[in-house]
Amino acid sequence: MPETTGPLPEVLRDPCELRRRLDAARAGGRRVAFVPTMGALHAGHLELVRHARELADVVVVSIFVNPTQFGPREDLASYPRDLQTDLRLLAGLADLVLAPGVEAVYPPGHATTIHVAGLTEGLCGASRPGHFDGVATVVAKLFSMVGPCSAVFGRKDFQQLQVVRRMTVDLDLPVTVVGRPTVREPDGLAMSSRNRHLTPEERRRATALVEGLRAAAAAFAAGERSVAVLDGLVRAQLEGRVDGIDYVFVGNPETLQPFAGPVPPGGTMLAAVAVRVGRTRLIDNTELGAEDLVVPAGGHSPGTQD
Ligand code: PAJ
Repeated sequence: MPETTGPLPEVLRDPCELRRRLDAARAGGRRVAFVPTMGALHAGHLELVRHARELADVVVVSIFVNPTQFGPREDLASYPRDLQTDLRLLAGLADLVLAPGVEAVYPPGHATTIHVAGLTEGLCGASRPGHFDGVATVVAKLFSMVGPCSAVFGRKDFQQLQVVRRMTVDLDLPVTVVGRPTVREPDGLAMSSRNRHLTPEERRRATALVEGLRAAAAAFAAGERSVAVLDGLVRAQLEGRVDGIDYVFVGNPETLQPFAGPVPPGGTMLAAVAVRVGRTRLIDNTELGAEDLVVPAGGHSPGTQD
């Protein structure tokens, strides 16, 4: 991936030091936008950072592999970490990088967890118990360390985006949560830090996710609204190509529950998948009726904004 030119962002390890710096910026009337990440940055993350720049004067990126959102049998130890490469990628895009140690975020005695009910039960929440508690807790803590006006998240992690939105409203946090379209490889595979674990053969099979979603999108565009039919179209692309299906969900994008009745005219539907390819867990989704999954040659899906 081409590296951007420009000054390297300043790295701060101490959240209190970051808060002091940003208090001074805010006192001078400067607005702060924030992009939380776990590092191993790719073009999807960088698009969020570029968007943050449009929203504010000071752009802060956090790089923190949050242990509380990984289950005991998940990939915390093997999650890719490469701070120096990440900083070069952020050159000219971010002003400050918060890269705290685990003990700075979770000092001894830490005892508070945020649980967002309902939205966290299905989809990834069903097979990753506690995952969204870890996400909600660390995002709330990062929001309070950074104090941003706006925080930018990817729709690639659609359930996470909805959980963060709910938590921000419910806790009256003074942050505007912005969701951005999924950035994709030219063949449609959603960019992900975990893609680097795929072997070349697995990488070829990984396009099954987007192909399933595209099949559903084409049917939806032609008027199909049956959950069973759309679900079947997604599964038909996955079966035989991936090594395990965690879920295929076609349902209400707001509640993340199945539709109680027919889809309202003009309404959208969320199609979301989680699978295993080799040893790597991959997720993808599209909001049918709100997003164009057609990929222009050599380019990225234009997607939608909100
Ligand atoms: P991470 O997986 O590093 O993702 C950071 C942000 O980048 C998230 O908002 C995610 O949705 C977004 N993102 C990832 N791939 C993307 C893509 N292909 N296109 C657009 N955006 C993409 O998500 C997390 O970290 C963590 O859970 C975090 C929110 C930082 C809390 O620990």
